[in-house]
Amino acid sequence: MDQVFLNGRILASGEAWISPLDRGFLFADAVYEVIPVYHSKLFLWNEHYLRLERSLQAIRLTNPYRATDWREYLEQLVEANGGGELSVYLEISRGAEETRDHHIPQGIAPTVFAMTLPPLAPDPVLEHSGVRVVMLEDIRWHRCDIKSTALIANVLLREVAREKGAAEALLIRDGFVSEGTSSNVITLKGSTLKTHPDGPEILPGVTRDLLLRLGADLGYTIRRERIRPDELLGAEEAWLTSSRRILAPITRVDDRPIGTGRPGPGYERLRQAWQRHLDAFEA
Ligand code: PDD
Repeated sequence: MDQVFLNGRILASGEAWISPLDRGFLFADAVYEVIPVYHSKLFLWNEHYLRLERSLQAIRLTNPYRATDWREYLEQLVEANGGGELSVYLEISRGAEETRDHHIPQGIAPTVFAMTLPPLAPDPVLEHSGVRVVMLEDIRWHRCDIKSTALIANVLLREVAREKGAAEALLIRDGFVSEGTSSNVITLKGSTLKTHPDGPEILPGVTRDLLLRLGADLGYTIRRERIRPDELLGAEEAWLTSSRRILAPITRVDDRPIGTGRPGPGYERLRQAWQRHLDAFEA
């Protein structure tokens, strides 16, 4: 049985219990992170940890552990699950109180939970044909920069995408493409890579920022500017980025092709640059 981490202990998932009065359950009063693990090592740990600290601060929750303790606990969890290639999901909720009250309680212990997720299977269709996405109005709240577990809007939007036969929904806010339900968006036109600027409209993706650094090293110009839907449709290439899928070429938006309608040379260059970066990390 999978081993999970709960409040300082590693135990079998079937033995891990959380109170139904936990505010994570009652209010989604919690934040999370998803950290890829390669070669049993936490990938881009500092970047994920910084974002975790920002999320905690934004919801006024004190970080229960120091950075070194976090790292040690998560490495123990990875080891307990056999290491190798996987992802760590971690969540911190404000904890359980005796009743349900909107006020933020003082002096209760947060609940800290972590588990590992198996790697996503390589997807030959994705490599060969890319993915189709749909554009939907962004119905989420105005603090999408916080990695909150309150994901019902993302879940509903993803479900609409699935019903329309699409892999992801690109979300439109104030007439611009913000991001996907669990991914960021980068477009390529000429030698320019464009992505939505950081701010409350999007989650600042750790994967996206690494890929943009690698893109800059390859000579691309990076622009953090809002992307209009017609600009996306006129791009030569467009990609989704996330810790789970890393880089996925978008080849159709609704029923219109992007570029040639196939994964392009920019995707291939960036994917190879990412692989070189990963090889160096694993070495
Ligand atoms: N989601 N935007 C949203 C709304 C996301 O949920 C995610 C990641 C990203 C990409 O961020 P990163 O590159 O740091 O993974 C962007 C995770 C993987 C999830 O919810 O499972």
